[in-house]
Amino acid sequence: MKKAIAFMDSGLGGISVMAEARKLLPYENFIMYGDSKNAPYGEKTDGEVTRLTINAAKKLLEYNIKALVIACNTATSIAGKKLYTKMPIPIVGIVPPLKQAQGLKKEGEILVMLTPAAAKSHTIQNMLRHYGENTNILPCPGLMEFVERGELKGENLHKKLETLLNPYINKKIDVVALGCTHYPFLTEEIRNFFDKDTAFINGGDESARTLKALLEKQGLLTQDKTPGKTLFLNSSEDKIPLMKELYLSLGFDKEEII
Ligand code: DGL
Repeated sequence: MKKAIAFMDSGLGGISVMAEARKLLPYENFIMYGDSKNAPYGEKTDGEVTRLTINAAKKLLEYNIKALVIACNTATSIAGKKLYTKMPIPIVGIVPPLKQAQGLKKEGEILVMLTPAAAKSHTIQNMLRHYGENTNILPCPGLMEFVERGELKGENLHKKLETLLNPYINKKIDVVALGCTHYPFLTEEIRNFFDKDTAFINGGDESARTLKALLEKQGLLTQDKTPGKTLFLNSSEDKIPLMKELYLSLGFDKEEII
């Protein structure tokens, strides 16, 4: 049995990161764990986020895993450093792509959508000191819940986005950086509020590239050339069918799912 790469998130969002990794690592086995029962992490204290993240990581260590991806900006920015020193396997996190956003910016501004807890974290505040020019930080309480419910369009979502995005719709926004792994599932709806040429980015592809490079460097990539399998787990088991549905909606093959 191939050792798996584990992905963890406060809920279903981490699937957007795992999907990027799947494109680069077709032969690896994946385990995706969502902690939906304890979501949202983004409206909890740092202590709670750290405790929940460590618990999720410990749970995943009980499986046959060779690396862990913290596929959650909130967990990475609050608990990442602690976890990097504690875990016996390689760890990769995800942060909002502020540096990439600076590279894409023209004469307008950047908007970073993320959770309230991530917005306050030292990690993000530090990043902003380096890459925060013309950057608006928008905490989005209550937004990840739409993805957790599988509500990816409709009147209520539109109203919620209108309230959040209202201060920015008359500004020239060159780049929207999605700093929560749930939000890529809402990209089409968020796009409606901006110009056609506004760039949308998230940190998922960079995490996936970092993961691949790390496994390569440590000689941990599988040599087996059969398609990798993916197992979905969740602290709320009733969320597992929706996890599969979201993943398959990104164009993957259902044969892959265990
Ligand atoms: N998916 C998480 C992130 O990337 C946050 C969602 C939550 O608030 O739990 O930040």
